[in-house]
Amino acid sequence: MANERRNEDKAVAAGHIAGPGLLPIVLQVNGEDHDLMVEPRTTLAEALRGPLGLTGTKIACNHGVCSACTVWLDDLAVASCSVLAIEVGERRITTIEGLAGQEHLHPVQEAFIAHDAIQCGFCTPGLVMSCAALLARNPHPDRKEIETAISGHLCRCGTYPHVVQAMLALGTREEPDLE
Ligand code: FES
Ligand code: FES
Repeated sequence: MANERRNEDKAVAAGHIAGPGLLPIVLQVNGEDHDLMVEPRTTLAEALRGPLGLTGTKIACNHGVCSACTVWLDDLAVASCSVLAIEVGERRITTIEGLAGQEHLHPVQEAFIAHDAIQCGFCTPGLVMSCAALLARNPHPDRKEIETAISGHLCRCGTYPHVVQAMLALGTREEPDLE
């Protein structure tokens, strides 16, 4: 035990171990830099919902199974409960609060409303973030591609057919109007 403690102290001194106390980090969220003090164990989802107050990102399973906590790291949709805040580094974070412009909803949000793809809404921010990421890289996804993109999302209300309809409708527009 004493040896373990001595090795840990050496590793900390050499900069190999961070924490266990608070660490300063900067998170770039929805285009703005935020200085935060976080414990190394703090997940990105906790940092977003806690100190930053961005509660649109939901936590349900909290271990990478349901995708309720999906945000973008750069252009990639990720489960923010499975990423440590200290791992994010300089990557851009986009949450559901930052997806749309000030004046308009994102086209995926519009399509979800138009196609009744929302029931209780708990899973909806995560689903919207994954669908918007798909549409950004593939403006005309087919049913299989849509189903694959949302396959990690658990929706207890069973909105899947409506989500697929919303995305198929978006994909058949002549000029996708993505912001
Ligand atoms: S809360 Fe993150 S995957 Fe379920
Ligand atoms: S809309 Fe209720 S869990 Fe998906």
